[in-house]
Amino acid sequence: MNKHVNLTSYDDVEKLDNFTDLEFMNYCDEKLFLCEKHLAFIKKMFPKNEKIDICEIGSGNSKLLYKLEQNNMINNAIGIEISRSRYLFAEKFKKYVKSEKVTNINKNIFNVTFEKKFQIIVGVDIVFQLITAIQNGYEEKLLSWIDNNLDENGYLILELWSFESIIKQLHMNDNVLHIWSEFAVSDPFKYVLSDLSIDKDKNIIWNKKFIKRDSHGESFFNNILKPYSKDLIVEILKKHNFKDIKIYDSWDKEDDCEKDEYIVVAKKQELVNES
Ligand SMILES: C[S@@+](CC[C@H](N)C(=O)[O-])C[C@H]1O[C@@H](n2cnc3c(N)ncnc32)[C@H](O)[C@@H]1O
Repeated sequence: MNKHVNLTSYDDVEKLDNFTDLEFMNYCDEKLFLCEKHLAFIKKMFPKNEKIDICEIGSGNSKLLYKLEQNNMINNAIGIEISRSRYLFAEKFKKYVKSEKVTNINKNIFNVTFEKKFQIIVGVDIVFQLITAIQNGYEEKLLSWIDNNLDENGYLILELWSFESIIKQLHMNDNVLHIWSEFAVSDPFKYVLSDLSIDKDKNIIWNKKFIKRDSHGESFFNNILKPYSKDLIVEILKKHNFKDIKIYDSWDKEDDCEKDEYIVVAKKQELVNES
């Protein structure tokens, strides 16, 4: 059976062959810099400089975990990433930052089990809605994986995209949008052209065409994403026994998220001993 596109779409992302040593270093530095906002956010949650046990779902190049380690905030950190190329990048990045506390695992999260639970499980940048769009029942499956691996009173932090404006624009444009964006100079790709539409399950189909900086070479990938309004995610998390659910429109400073992106933080309910 063919794998769902969301399980393979990042297969060639951050392929080390695409970077010279200098490009690799500049890229890592830039990525660490971009994590200032996540760092500030997590620091506000743990103001007493407590060292945390954290697991990142779909950790990509693991930049957030390295950033937290550089700021002395990590007791133990695990990044789970399905893409081989991103995992290999994360491992080279690990050497570059001389990380000792981050472990990268190259697996589908559903094939990973732990003996110890985490104080934080985090999914940055649409990871949650990438996994829940795979098939009916995956939202339940993912939340139950999170529940099994989160400490009592532990926190779930998710960055989500409501796609509200995009959905409105799609309704006005016969269900097709084409959007060009330009990357920072440290990126081996210069432009991306996004083609967006909505499928029969009301998920967003997002096809991207990347244009290389030096050669005009092209590469493609497709994602399907389940949109979550703020009300919907609050309702779902409440049903799954989370409490103290809070929504933030930015990590640290106004406008540090994309339009219609937001962060949800939820605390796992403590088990009540009924004996
Ligand atoms: C949008 S990227 C975000 C990466 C990273 N969190 C960041 O902020 O840069 C989503 C990542 O999740 C990974 N991913 C998707 N499904 C996964 C799964 N089932 N298990 C592990 N990783 C997964 C993808 O390969 C991709 O690298």
